[in-house]
Amino acid sequence: MSARHRLHIIQPGHAQRELAADPALTLLQQLQRAGFDLPHACRNGNCGRCYAQLHEGETSHTLDQTRVPLCISQALSDIQLTLPKAPQWTLYTCQIKQCREERIDLLLPAGKIALSGKQFALVNTCSASAATLLEQHQRLLALRLSSPLQHTGSGLVQLLCVSANAEGRQPLVFRQKTLATGLSASLVREIHESLLQSSRDAGTS
Ligand code: FES
Repeated sequence: MSARHRLHIIQPGHAQRELAADPALTLLQQLQRAGFDLPHACRNGNCGRCYAQLHEGETSHTLDQTRVPLCISQALSDIQLTLPKAPQWTLYTCQIKQCREERIDLLLPAGKIALSGKQFALVNTCSASAATLLEQHQRLLALRLSSPLQHTGSGLVQLLCVSANAEGRQPLVFRQKTLATGLSASLVREIHESLLQSSRDAGTS
């Protein structure tokens, strides 16, 4: 009979926890089942969102022997990990399929993406707009815009999905970077305002 490896889990802002590893599941799957809220997108080790810091032990996959892609890895011994912070927002670069005054149809990037955010905004290098999800069919999304988006001619736009907290107020800063390279502070303020406004509208509807 083989003893199960133990996972010693550290997540910033939470008490440390310990659980038994399940060799039939990836670390991401078992941590999600145990109730951890973890950033993830591609589930194939490429996007980097789920990478954890390995302090002790051995896992099936590592980068630089210290970073563990949770979505494709299993524990090969007892391990100690620091998990990435729970997601507050995710940003996807999407292809614009069609854009009318108030409605925009987008194609999400390939990969298993679950839209978990409750608030949406579309941003490009010269404008931003709060958005409401109208419908989704696999990678195709239809959104209603609160204000028209200025065209940049690239055919691409960034979709920001934000998990609301109690006040609807969101930090739009991640590891000391604002949203995405190239976004100005004034645009970030505009997005923040759009999100606050859409959360007020949601609260009064
Ligand atoms: S979810 Fe993309 S690397 Fe793990």
